[in-house]
This record gives sequence, structure tokens and C-alpha cells, in this order.
Amino acid sequence: MLQITDQDLTSFNTLGLQAHARALLRLQTPDQLPELTRLAARHASVFVLGGGSNVVLVPNIDSLVVKLESRGVGIYEQTDSHVIVEAHAGEVWHDFVAGCVERGWNGLENLALIPGTVGAAPVQNIGAYGVELDQRFHSLVAWDLRKGRAVEMGAADCGFSYRNSFFKQAKPGRWLIVKVRFCLPRQWQPVLSYPDLQRHPVLAQAGASTTAQQVFDAVCEIRRHKLPDPAVLGNAGSFFKNPVVGADVLDAIRQAHPNVVVYPQPDGLYKLAAGWLIDQAGWKGRRMGPAGVHDRQALVLVNHGGATAQDIESLAQAIREDVERRFGVRLEQEPVRVG
Ligand code: EPU
Repeated sequence: MLQITDQDLTSFNTLGLQAHARALLRLQTPDQLPELTRLAARHASVFVLGGGSNVVLVPNIDSLVVKLESRGVGIYEQTDSHVIVEAHAGEVWHDFVAGCVERGWNGLENLALIPGTVGAAPVQNIGAYGVELDQRFHSLVAWDLRKGRAVEMGAADCGFSYRNSFFKQAKPGRWLIVKVRFCLPRQWQPVLSYPDLQRHPVLAQAGASTTAQQVFDAVCEIRRHKLPDPAVLGNAGSFFKNPVVGADVLDAIRQAHPNVVVYPQPDGLYKLAAGWLIDQAGWKGRRMGPAGVHDRQALVLVNHGGATAQDIESLAQAIREDVERRFGVRLEQEPVRVG
């Protein structure tokens, strides 16, 4: 029998925002999904919480909060060229990646140390250091809470793009990701295109003989240096997406800032580094009440202690307005607001 409890969610979100749920349901196995469907029908709205690493929670959450905590990792299928690995939604993403590298299932090592769960990873199509989840994605099983049935979905169904997917756009609480499968190549090649990896001494020295473990270790080291550990300083990773602009906007910025950081996109547009824009605007390390901008990566907003959603959002709004005024670029929030 599933038990609904009321629950303080402060330790269930990596920003550490003070939040309280009137109704929380924790599922240990997918067998409980039909029962969940019956219970959810009695609530006006449902919110699916993963590792809480990409959310801004308001103080009082009226939705039924659902956490699928089922665990398990195994081989789904093997071919001559690939291993397809299946993981349950409740697995901790970083531990899953570490386990894959240990077993020689390579291809996810650039995504080491991203906070959150396996089930949440496809929602925002997590990406870092030259690899995005969709490049390694095979398929997933999602539970449709409205129709009360499991659905198999391939990459096309998931509609992945930069920090976005079908699930991020869908009505909140309709879909619950149950299992995710990854297609990992036997003939593995390291992805070392990202500047931070190219500069890393161990990888530069290893050259063509670089191992997945070395990439994994390097990514962990770089992230630990730049990004705050949520267990020490509350944060939700990048708070804004890197904005994509046309040549006209880029040219205008370049006039005043010839050194603007820019990544040309295949479609002729230009991705700018939001962290660079925020840093140039002088926000790095600044505080507004208990909310602040991280002092080593301006794209990360942090909770110095006791912050609420309102504190974080006031800071985000001030940054957004300042960046727009200076550069003519509107920053889009990355974490999902709940409540
Ligand atoms: N930069 C600054 N000042 C800053 C921050 C960055 O000048 O305060 C400059 C850097 O020097 C660099 C450029 O901006 O030239 C990009 O910075 P970085 O390589 O740190 O990456 P990012 O664009 O800020 C993105 C992802 C991260 C991911 C890294 C590495 C987004 C929104 N963020 O950050 O993802 O780890 O690349 O691939 O795409 C996340 O999504 O939560 C996240 C941490």
C-alpha cells in the first residue's frame, strides 16, 4: 500500500530552498504505478520530483509530489557494435555513470558528476563537456499517469534539443519516466572537443590512448573546481540556458566586446556563454540577501543559507534585466519552477 505523507522538501532540492509538500508519495518499484494512477486521480495536480537538482520549489506545494525511487542497472541488449544498458529512474546519475565506466561500458563519462537521477536526465537532456544525453540515448519506458499505462519511447518521441525534451514541454505530472536505456559503443572514442578537456594535462599527455576512466576523472576534477557541491552550497547547476542569437545580435555585442565567447551552431545561429555575459555584467560573487552568484561560475546561482524561491527569483530577475539592458539578450531560466 502506498502511503501519502506530508514532508519537508528542503533536503529534497539541491538549491536547499525551504519548501513543504502537503502530500508526498515515494514509489519503490514500477509495480506500484497502477496504484499511483488511482491515487493521483484524486489530486488536482501532480509533480514528479527526481533528484531535485533542476527545480525551484515554492514554500508550500499543493500538488501531489511523486518520487519514483526504483533502482537497478543491467544489460538490455548486446550487439557486435553496442551494449544497450538499462537503468531504473531512481538510480543516482553519477553513480550510474561511474558503474558503467567501471564495467567498460563507455560513452557517458563526459556526463560524470551531474547531480540528479537517471529518470530526470532525459527531461532536460542533460549535457556537459561535449556530450549530450540524446547522443547516447536508446529508448525509455514512461508511465502515462492520465491513461494509466506504460509507453515505450524512442529518441524521436522524446523530442530532444538543447536542455529540452518532450517531457519538459508536456503538462507537468502527466508523465513519469520509469527506465532509461543507453546505447554505448564497443569501439569507443573519447570526446575531447571541449576546451577544458583539451587543456587538461593528463588527457593531453595520454593523447590517442586516453581511457574512459581518465576522461571521467578529468570531468570530475574540472566540475569540482568550477561548480559548487550542492551538499555544501545549495545550487541547481546552470541557472540560465546559454542563449542562441542571430548574427545581428552577435555583431552588436562584438562592437563593444570583441572577446565575446561564442559557439557557432550548425543552423547558422550563435550560442553565447550566459556565464560570460553575467560575469561581464559584474555579477560574479555578488549577493542579494541569502541568494548569490557563485564566485567561480557566474551561471550558477547559490543559496547562502535560508533562501526561498522568492530570493533566488529576485536575483535571477535582476540579472536578466541587467544582461538584457547591456547586451540585448534575454536569458531563459533553466530549472523548472514548481508551485
Ligand atoms: N565564463 C566566464 N565567466 C563565468 C563563467 C563562464 O567568462 O563566470 C566563460 C568561460 O570562460 C567559457 C564560457 O564562458 O569561455 C563557457 O563556460 P563553461 O565552459 O564553464 O560552460 P558554460 O557554458 O557556462 C555549460 C553548461 C554546463 C556544463 C558546461 C560544460 C549550460 C546552460 N551549461 O556551461 O551545464 O557543465 O557547459 O559543458 O549549457 C548545467 O546545465 O547545470 C551545467 C552545469
